[in-house]
Formats: sequence, structure tokens, C-alpha cells
Amino acid sequence: MDNVFSINEENIKKAGKIIRNGGLVAFPTETVYGLGGDGLNPRASKSIYAAKGRPSDNPLIIHICELNDIYRITKDIPDEAFILADKLWPGPLTLILKATEAVPRETTGGLMTVAVRMPSHRGALRFIKEAGGFVAAPSANTSGRPSPTKAAHVWEDLGSRVDMILDGGDSVLGLESTILDLTEDEPVILRPGFITREDIEDILGKRVLVDEASTETESCTSNGMELEGSAERGRAPKAPGMKYRHYAPRAVMLMVKGEPGRVTDAITERAKADIKAGKKVGIICTEETFGAYSGLGANIKSLGRRTDLKGIAAGIYDALRNFDSGDTGVIYSEYFDEEGIGAAIMNRLKKAAGGNIIKV
Ligand code: TXA
Ligand code: MG
Repeated sequence: MDNVFSINEENIKKAGKIIRNGGLVAFPTETVYGLGGDGLNPRASKSIYAAKGRPSDNPLIIHICELNDIYRITKDIPDEAFILADKLWPGPLTLILKATEAVPRETTGGLMTVAVRMPSHRGALRFIKEAGGFVAAPSANTSGRPSPTKAAHVWEDLGSRVDMILDGGDSVLGLESTILDLTEDEPVILRPGFITREDIEDILGKRVLVDEASTETESCTSNGMELEGSAERGRAPKAPGMKYRHYAPRAVMLMVKGEPGRVTDAITERAKADIKAGKKVGIICTEETFGAYSGLGANIKSLGRRTDLKGIAAGIYDALRNFDSGDTGVIYSEYFDEEGIGAAIMNRLKKAAGGNIIKV
């Protein structure tokens, strides 16, 4: 880990210089770690895609540190953008706006729009300033893997393919930003996050749509299991990134939905059979149900109390990565309430599970 440095003033200055010279720096934000390059430099954007192994039709978010900087990269900005920025920036909200000529097509994956976010992490804001003000950054994982919430996760995926990794400890929120498209007649959420639909509707005083295609997932059928796949297909999500299997652990993952008691029984029964068949089993549960699985011989991971949605969100990606290092063959996860932040939690878990849902 010889390219990992703690995020202090001296290292931020070095990191800024690396970006201005066209290099790559992974850095902490309040949501997840980002893999940063100069968003106005097409060569830097190309290097980001290469380092992540990401398809180049999947656009990057440009991170800014001052509101005035949006004029350089976006145009025809609707009032809603300023109203939301005033209340929620810096913070975990990404806005899709019309792009100016200053934004290279490489950064927007060929689109005429651009994603912009001002993160609230203090070190991130300082780094963006030192880097010239426009840091393009996807989550700093290799494509398809769970997003990184620690510098060690970034190192695990990208190693020395980045020039520098700024270590700021654990990400406070642990789930990527809410993405809101403001280029249509009505605002549309393309990716749910900590800023909920209700938060945005309250601030704007009007209806906000949710791109249903972004929350759908392909389901795999697996020997005789009853799976509830996604209902409707055929339309691509508007955030290109949402169409890929995502946030995914290496193991087969299954979400189990139903009355709490039936869920623990069903997971216990299936886990027993899997363990008997020689598989390593992981279970994602909560404090309330943790005890129900003891003695099974499974790797049990509690995400905290069922009502503490913030705590649950913060632990998801680390849990999924831990199962990978434990060589787990199958992961069962309990189902969570989809209200408020729960919508984002379930969006990520369902995608990690590739849409595999068992109803009990
Ligand atoms: O919290 C976050 O948003 C983190 C941190 C690092 O800021 N970043 C992040 O970036 O999650 P990434 O690249 O992993 O996810 C960005 C998503 C992708 O699904 C991408 O397709 C979508 O945003 N996106 C980017 N630009 C877009 C655009 N112009 N139109 C529609 N979707 C866009
Ligand atoms: Mg990502």
C-alpha cells in the first residue's frame, strides 16, 4: 500500500498536482471513495475508464467545490438546481444538467448532459480546489464490485493503477449519492440515495419522478428456486451505470422477503442444506435476528438495528467485501423496508443480488 497517504494538507497539495498533470487520485467523500481525474481533460477521463475496467458509455460525475463553478460546465440551468444546491450542497446529491463545450465527451460518455456534485467531505473539497476545481470521479472500485468505503477497499481493487490514494478513514454515509435529472420537464431520480424523493419534493414543492428502470434488476434463475424477478423490461435506465450488474460480491446472493419469522426460518433451512453440501454461507441480518442464526456455522453479519437505516447503509459494502475475502459461496440477505433511505439500501442490495429474490 505504498501509494496510500493520509488526507492532510501536504498530501492534498501533492494530489492536486497529480490531477493537474493528468494523473489519477482516489479520494474519500462522505458517500464512497472516488477515483478522481481532471474532468476537463479527455485523456484523464480515458485513464479512469481504463483503471476501473469500466465501459466508456458510462459517464462520470464532475465534483466541484464552489457553486459558481457550475457555470463553466453546465448551461440553461433551471431554477430547481439553485434551490436544491442552496439546501443540499455540499452533500450527497448529484444533478444532471446540460453540458457546456468545456466538458469533454469522454467525461460524459458521449452524452450532451453532465453529472455534477459538490461533496461535503472537508478534505475532498480541499482536494478538488487544489486539483483545479473539476474532478471527474466514479466510485473507486473496479467495475461491478461493491463501492469502496475505506482506503483499503480502493487498494484491494485498484492497487498501483492509481498514482495516489488519499486515506480519510471510513465513509460516513457508505452509499453513493442520489442522482437527480433536471434536464426533463419534471425532475427524475435516476439513482436513489440518502437524499430521498420526499426530501426533494419538500424542497421543490412539486412532484419528483423515479426512473423505475434504474431500480430494476435482471434475475437469474437457479435450480428450482422461486424467484421474483423484475416485472417489466425493455427500457434502459437513463443513468447508464444503473443497467450493469453492480455492487456485486463474488458469491451467489439471494434476498429473502416475507414475514420476519418466516424469513429467519427460510434462511436457516437453506443455509443448513448449503453447509451440508459443503458450501460456505454468509448471512446478512440485523441485531434483532442475529441470534436466530447462531450455531449454524455460517458467517453472520449484522448491519445493526433494523430501525437504524443510516447504520445499515454505512455497513453494506464492507459486509459484501468481507464475504469475498472469506471465500463465501452463497449469501442470504434479509429484506429491508423500502421507505426513505430504505429505498437506496434495497436498490443496492437487490443489484448486488442480481435481482434474486426468494419470497417466503
Ligand atoms: O456518491 C457518489 O456519487 C460517488 C462519489 C465518488 O461521488 N460517485 C459515484 O460515481 O457513484 P459512479 O460513476 O460510480 O456512478 C455515477 C452514476 C452512473 O450510474 C452513471 O451512469 C450516472 O451516474 N451518470 C453520470 N453522468 C450521467 C448523465 N449525464 N446522465 C445520466 N446518468 C449519468
Ligand atoms: Mg459506481
